[in-house]
Amino acid sequence: VKVKFPEPQQYTGPMKIPDRHHPYKAPGPNDKRGPCPALNTLANHGYLPRNGIASAGEIVQASGEAFNLGYNFSVAVSSLAVLSCGNILLDKVSIGGEHRLVPALPGKIDGTPGGLSKHGRFEGDVSMTRLDAVHGDPAVFQPEMYKDLLKFVDQYGDGDIVTPEVFAEYRFKIYNDRLNDNPVLTWHQGRLGFSYGEAGFILNLFRNSETGNLTRQDMTQFFVEERFPENWYRKETPFEFDDIRMAVDALEESHPVRPGKKDVNGMYVVDTPETSPFLGTVCGTYYDLLVPNIAGVLLETKGQLKKNVDTYLDGMFQLFEPYGCPRLYPEGPA
Ligand code: HEM
Ligand code: MG
Repeated sequence: VKVKFPEPQQYTGPMKIPDRHHPYKAPGPNDKRGPCPALNTLANHGYLPRNGIASAGEIVQASGEAFNLGYNFSVAVSSLAVLSCGNILLDKVSIGGEHRLVPALPGKIDGTPGGLSKHGRFEGDVSMTRLDAVHGDPAVFQPEMYKDLLKFVDQYGDGDIVTPEVFAEYRFKIYNDRLNDNPVLTWHQGRLGFSYGEAGFILNLFRNSETGNLTRQDMTQFFVEERFPENWYRKETPFEFDDIRMAVDALEESHPVRPGKKDVNGMYVVDTPETSPFLGTVCGTYYDLLVPNIAGVLLETKGQLKKNVDTYLDGMFQLFEPYGCPRLYPEGPA
């Protein structure tokens, strides 16, 4: 299958979501759901296929239409999703775990796809409402963790309104918790950026643009029911990579954290320019997500498979090229 991305949306203003073509329906027993509350919500409303198996283009279309996620950013992360844990030849990824519609590549050259629930490629440690993989299934929503987050809303929010301080404090708290209780913690620059980026997504993309605010009730609806709230309007302008980077920097400012990984003795070793070239620059995120993370054997493929590999690599590069990053290639294990 040839990879096809949709055209960017023509209208990028606010809009009531869902429209009448996308009613909520609870997932059935064979429908896949995973670690991303937004993709789960999109599938529960049929913006993504309700079985939770989607192409990169479908993810771009759905997240643009329903959340006003910036086009270049969504092309890059959707490309990363299929490259890292989908079937590249079929252009399909499960938003949860393994599914028969997303089989291994011929010759299993990169193992089994795993889906977005697979630990270590896209999914990673220090999530806000999911366990670290060493402690349990990292795809499953944890009500106890969410209760903790709500305590931070009580303490740092503005009444019922969720503010950036809530996430600045909560993210720092769970980072310290995982430093203490995860003996195999891995938190490289790319994952660290995504962790804070996901908090920025909550603040900016779960917010109702009609009222301007993210309420505790609406946030709960997204996390617990994975359903759009009543009278909810998507963001008034697209959320682009520069907006995400600014949100990440603002959340990290009050409590700077260092990317790194626990060694065999359980000591947290911070990354250095030796372990992570381009450390501390936007190209470092690109490096981390691609070079050690995606299987190097994918470059040795041929035909349509190789064409799709190249399309996804282009999809990632276009996001980082404007920052002067060199084009990078996967060197990771299968
Ligand atoms: C988490 C994928 C878009 C909100 C995740 C995770 C994955 C993922 C794999 C798990 C990471 C982890 O915490 O270990 C994707 C992909 C997207 C996408 C492929 C493609 C466009 C979005 C959008 C939003 C969003 C548009 C918000 C509207 C979140 C949040 C989390 C998350 C809040 C963190 C959950 C937590 O830490 O408990 N996403 N996502 N994502 N995603 Fe998405
Ligand atoms: Mg996680």
